[in-house]
Amino acid sequence: MNTEEAQKRIQELSQLLHKYNRHYYLLNESLVSDQEFDALLRELQELENHFPQFKNENSPTQRVGGALSDKFEKVKHEHPMLSLSNTYSLEEIQDWEDRLRKSSEEDLEYVLELKYDGVAISMIYENGALVRAVTRGDGQTGEDVTKNVRTISTVPLVLDANAVPERFEIRGEIFFPLKEFNELNEMRQLEGLELYANPRNTASGTLKNQDSKVVASRGLDCFLYSIHVGEKRFESHFEALQAAREWGFKAPPAEKKYVAKAKNVEEIMEFIQYWDEARKDLPFEIDGIVIKVNTFDLQEMLGMTAKSPRWAIAYKFKAAQVSTLLEDISYQVGRTGAITPVAHLKAVHLAGTVVKRASLHNADQIEKLDIRIGDTVFVEKGGEIIPKVLGVNLALRPDNSSPHEYIDHCPECQTALIRREGEAQHYCPNENHCPPQITGRIEHFISRKAMNIDGLGGETVEQLWKAGLIESCADLYHLNYDDVLALERMAEKSVQNLLNGIDASKSQAFEKVLFALGIRYVGETVAKKLAKHFKNMDALQEADVEALVSVDEIGERIAHSLRDYFEDPEHQKMLEDLKVSGLQFEVEESDLPQSDQLEGKSFVVSGVFSVYSRNEIKALIEQNGGKNVGSISKKTDYVLAGDKMGPSKLKKAEDLGIPIISEQDFIEMIS
Ligand code: IVH
Repeated sequence: MNTEEAQKRIQELSQLLHKYNRHYYLLNESLVSDQEFDALLRELQELENHFPQFKNENSPTQRVGGALSDKFEKVKHEHPMLSLSNTYSLEEIQDWEDRLRKSSEEDLEYVLELKYDGVAISMIYENGALVRAVTRGDGQTGEDVTKNVRTISTVPLVLDANAVPERFEIRGEIFFPLKEFNELNEMRQLEGLELYANPRNTASGTLKNQDSKVVASRGLDCFLYSIHVGEKRFESHFEALQAAREWGFKAPPAEKKYVAKAKNVEEIMEFIQYWDEARKDLPFEIDGIVIKVNTFDLQEMLGMTAKSPRWAIAYKFKAAQVSTLLEDISYQVGRTGAITPVAHLKAVHLAGTVVKRASLHNADQIEKLDIRIGDTVFVEKGGEIIPKVLGVNLALRPDNSSPHEYIDHCPECQTALIRREGEAQHYCPNENHCPPQITGRIEHFISRKAMNIDGLGGETVEQLWKAGLIESCADLYHLNYDDVLALERMAEKSVQNLLNGIDASKSQAFEKVLFALGIRYVGETVAKKLAKHFKNMDALQEADVEALVSVDEIGERIAHSLRDYFEDPEHQKMLEDLKVSGLQFEVEESDLPQSDQLEGKSFVVSGVFSVYSRNEIKALIEQNGGKNVGSISKKTDYVLAGDKMGPSKLKKAEDLGIPIISEQDFIEMIS
């Protein structure tokens, strides 16, 4: 097959497979047999392998995954992703509706929707193609998870470009259907793996999986709930949802009452009552009902508060609750020495899972609720993975019960516990010799966001520690092949992987090393700030409280914690050891700004460049004190445009009057 023929066939196959997909997943009809579909997909895959120049990032082959993401790039949302104001009270829904009625002369109309319990997603389509999918993040900035979203069968990768706006954003909720979630857990049970707690958190975790093949295998789904088009294209939300459906999106079906219109509060209440019962039979989880004003004119008039629109409200169903027997209370010791009391419950079914443990938070909580072993307690599972004990059914308290006595010595090393002023948690102060603190710290040290040591996990850390091979993080770098191989269940290959992983971690940047040490209150962001300011470990170790608090966003609490850490002779010894092993104890020159010429300036970089690659340009911006942002807004200072920059981006920059500069202009700017 020659190149031309290949290009044509690739196009043909892509169109056909997109069509089959759409019919299968959105319209529930099979146009071809599974075998035929697979054969065509294989043909396309092979052609793409031979002629990679014709491979499109929205090709149907991307559905099966394969692309890996080592990091999800941060992207600023074009419009912030707000949240909804929530209520558990029907009265408040009534009040909200009353207020709207008073503020508007017109006849009101509402759209009622389910509140899908998943993760919000924002997707951008340009010229009919999915170009970006971003998580909600903090509402302002999210993470680019496009590769993973492309594997979700009901998310269209291409649309009829003539039928849809040139550029638009569509938002919705990605969720884990219950059937798929239960199957996944059944499989994990068979494999002896820990079970996932609930569909929502698992959907969120899956979406951030680095391997898009895993995402493809999970069977996530997505419902859409809002469209943002630049021009005024629709009068109402209901109309927009209908259009989305016609364009090829999975909008919630009206036939199944997933969405409905209402004219007054009675109709709203009817919908809520219907779903409070019927939700038990849904193939996915919902946590409430969303009520939205239908017409966009009125939505605009009502506007927003800082956090949420005034034109919508969510009624939340009460979280599932059960009561069960509290059989025992045990205590866990974390890596910082913090003690957490854990309730051991008589196993009970709650919202689809079996619950045996619940957090009791701290001593105050136990005292306040007067929780005693032998009590029948109320347990609730909200959004969190770990269920909460809410209180005690006093009517069922046994006569001989007595108040619970909180421990005063560490359950692991028997050291007397301390409680710092103003803190709710008890701590075990024996940080250098209390076993779970040592292994916990090492586990933190090796974790992905810290030293990212491949081939080493929690169990192996435990094993190495029990064998007396490691007592601190520094000992990892003294491990030798024969010692590790002598451990149980260690094969030559795994030992080599482990040692390679340890060796590779020596090139982790200084800020990661700083975070890895696990100093109290020094999380990733603080570690970055400290690294940027002090530039090396010696300077940081020597800095007194005054010097520390002079750094932006470093307060007294962090400063004292750092001083305490560095003044401890055991820590000093360990740091010396790590330094000798060759860890990065200073920022690399290339991590430092080379000038501050671009200080405070934000750039959007778009298109293809000739002198530098796009990533090099972005690095140069940061090295010169500037900031990269994902999308153009009023606050953007420059748009750095290369070849093939999207026309809609150009237009947006022009509309907002933002200077558009070329690669050459930029080079002059920093030279
Ligand atoms: S509309 C201004 N509709 O609930 C907010 N949100 O706190 C516009 N959600 O994270 C959102 N189902 O992801 C809307 N039918 C629905 C929804 C829905 C679930 C989520 C959404 C957001 C949260 C709102």
